[in-house]
Amino acid sequence: MMAAPSAVARPVPSLGAEAATAWLALLGAYHLARRGTLPADTVTFAADERLGLQPLAEAATGALLAWAPESGWQVASPVQGEARALLDLYLPLLPRHPGETLTLGHLGQSLDGYIATARGESCFVTGPENILHLHCLRALCDAVLVGAETVAADDPRLTTRLVPGDNPVRVVLDPRRRLPVERRVFQDGAAPTLLVCAEGQPGPGRLGQAEVLAVPAHQGRLRLDALVAALHRRGLRRLFVEGGGLTVSSFLGAGLLDRLQVAVAPLLIGTGRRGLSLPAPDALGDCLRPPCRVFRMGADILFDSEPRAKPGGEAGGVSPGLARIR
Ligand SMILES: NC(=O)c1ccc[n+]([C@@H]2O[C@H](COP(=O)([O-])OP(=O)(O)OC[C@H]3O[C@@H](n4cnc5c(N)ncnc54)[C@H](OP(=O)(O)O)[C@@H]3O)[C@@H](O)[C@H]2O)c1
Repeated sequence: MMAAPSAVARPVPSLGAEAATAWLALLGAYHLARRGTLPADTVTFAADERLGLQPLAEAATGALLAWAPESGWQVASPVQGEARALLDLYLPLLPRHPGETLTLGHLGQSLDGYIATARGESCFVTGPENILHLHCLRALCDAVLVGAETVAADDPRLTTRLVPGDNPVRVVLDPRRRLPVERRVFQDGAAPTLLVCAEGQPGPGRLGQAEVLAVPAHQGRLRLDALVAALHRRGLRRLFVEGGGLTVSSFLGAGLLDRLQVAVAPLLIGTGRRGLSLPAPDALGDCLRPPCRVFRMGADILFDSEPRAKPGGEAGGVSPGLARIR
């Protein structure tokens, strides 16, 4: 008898026409900020196929985005539907100046809090819309970080191949240098790659095409504040921590996440690889209850939270594919 397929592969949707235009405009806005060329005055922009964004004369129609130095980016009110949702979701993630830093963690988990089966299968816990979202996040960050176990289990490429946008630098946390050189991130040359190990770990300065970066460690745990500082010094200021659970948890536990996104899929795994895991609190009142935005993402629900912000504030939206809930 043939073995049942271990996971159901679902086609990843591409962005619809309006959302694709909004995405290009968003990339245009992102690059204006990264280059430090955001206008000093309030300016309204239309989408432009070639440039992403085109400044508009005051009375012109067809506005998509408005920039105001004191309040940042706003979506023009006639913009609705998928394009609106996409802009609502990603605009608050854009920087306002080239030096602004961001560390964002994301996990896609089952209703019962697992990100993979016990054997490490995670294709696909969340749906295709969430996979597309991961590619969008990669395009809006300088570096994508994953733990050694994710590279061991998934052999991911960590590129932006589903959306327009630059590939981020790939950063693999492998303190003991246990990963084999055959993994794709060390071979395919699709983007610069850093292998992060604990200081003092023996071995050559490269693994395949990856450069080795040694950072201080304590009892086998990498000092993540030192890692973040080392990445910032290299000009990698916007960091996307894509998994797995141990890695995102260690960034969250170290107080280093500006944003934590958890996509919850209508799936029950039963027993598997944990998503977030933090030290036990003494009381429910000691638990983090961060301000949160909530989006529908296909069949999944995305919680976009700010773990370091005060509770009660609003953290910063998305159609049968992607819709803001609140
Ligand atoms: N659904 C999702 O969103 C998602 C995303 C990514 C991955 N996954 C799945 O999740 C599973 C992997 O997740 P995981 O939680 O088991 O492992 P992981 O986070 O991918 O990797 C954990 C390992 O990375 C290294 N590491 C991470 N943080 C470190 C730190 N602060 N200091 C030192 N080392 C650190 C350690 O390597 P050593 O063990 O060598 O010390 C650690 O054991 C896979 O099955 C993958 O398919 C799911």
